[in-house]
Amino acid sequence: MSLAPIDQLVSNRASPLLGTIPIPGDKSISHRSLIFGSLAIGTTKVRGLLEGTDVMSTKDALVALGVEINRDNDGLWHIVGVGLNGMISPVAPLDLGNSGTGARLLMGVVAGQKITATFCGDASLSSRPMARVTNPLAKMGAKITSREGGLLPVTIRGTRSLMAAHHCSKIASAQIKSAILLAGLNARGTTIVSEPSTSRDHSESMLRHFGASISQEVAEDKSHRVKLAEGTNLRAADIIVPSDPSSAAFAIVAALITPGSDINLYGIGMNPLRIGLITTLIEMGGNITKSNDRTEGGEAVADLRVKYSQLHGITVPPDRAASMIDEYPILSVAAASANGTTEMLGIAELRVKETDRIKVMADGLISCGVKVDFDEDSMRVTNSTVNGGVTISAEHDHRIAMSFLTLGMNAKAPITVKGCTTIETSFPRFATAMNQLGASLANGSPT
Ligand code: S3P
Repeated sequence: MSLAPIDQLVSNRASPLLGTIPIPGDKSISHRSLIFGSLAIGTTKVRGLLEGTDVMSTKDALVALGVEINRDNDGLWHIVGVGLNGMISPVAPLDLGNSGTGARLLMGVVAGQKITATFCGDASLSSRPMARVTNPLAKMGAKITSREGGLLPVTIRGTRSLMAAHHCSKIASAQIKSAILLAGLNARGTTIVSEPSTSRDHSESMLRHFGASISQEVAEDKSHRVKLAEGTNLRAADIIVPSDPSSAAFAIVAALITPGSDINLYGIGMNPLRIGLITTLIEMGGNITKSNDRTEGGEAVADLRVKYSQLHGITVPPDRAASMIDEYPILSVAAASANGTTEMLGIAELRVKETDRIKVMADGLISCGVKVDFDEDSMRVTNSTVNGGVTISAEHDHRIAMSFLTLGMNAKAPITVKGCTTIETSFPRFATAMNQLGASLANGSPT
């Protein structure tokens, strides 16, 4: 059944999931393609860009900053770069919708140019912490005001005379790291960002791809450091966006927990800093086989085959969190059908994602009959019969919506999810693609 974006979906029991599911382009890499392409000299062509609403918010913001961006009839995106200092002040606030990545990375861009821009977003983005990015950017010399508590709207008056920073982040966050590196492109001196463990390195790879001089090292104190040399101009370079492992995660877990399933996923991004969920599911007994390992556009990619498996609970260590930070909601769905208990440690960052993902997942799972307990930075899910028969609110969070729709595929009674249009941010046509495999996601009220 083909479904247009619908706000309320009911997930009925699925048939065995069989066949191939197309997975859209990687969200992190798509944002960065548009942003780095805009700052380069020359035209960057991007194949496989995610055309979800988050990435389109970033595209619209860049257009408002004076960049010409077009899609041709073959789906190839053309970005006519304006160079490191060529942007203009937008006439209206930049509305980044639901996108933390778009907002935070573009703050780094604006900070290093002689322009002023105000950033705003939807209810979810407006409640997310921005000081983690605006504080270091202000230290580098940008003039920044925000709503109390460091929340949006944020106004940034950038300057061409930023001073390079050595920023030591307490959390492993690619958004913080990328914002500072983007500002660092226009700063005097070497920009250094240290983090306690390595967050996804798509910005570093793309900077290298565009000709910047960037290095990575593990320091004596075991922190992970990225150094960006002063005065690098970026040269346009074409990009192929791999399929998003964070979007593939929903189909992978759906197949693992739905008896009789056997699915294929092609061209999935396998960056080692993004595949903590796959490692975890294999440790839990998941039958996931990888083939055709290759590199496309500087990123590791492979094909996956996933078959139904009886999973067992494990403890997921805190040092794995950065490599699967967006995957804990769907892991907690897998954990409900895994023998024993699955323990997830060091996950406090989940509380400041599109919603408080620890609380929203725990409450929703408990309402479906699943045994869960949690504290500030950990969660334990124990094998349970999933009763379902409830309505869950997605809370402006695409990954919450897709997780509960996946849970419903094996529940005794259907699970209804309200607020499903948020899925358009990262996985347009999710319901249609899952239904083509054998899921039964329907519009409206429970059947
Ligand atoms: C992202 C980084 C992660 C992740 C987010 C995308 C990125 O956030 O949760 O969905 O593209 O840089 P943090 O940087 O806050 O950890």
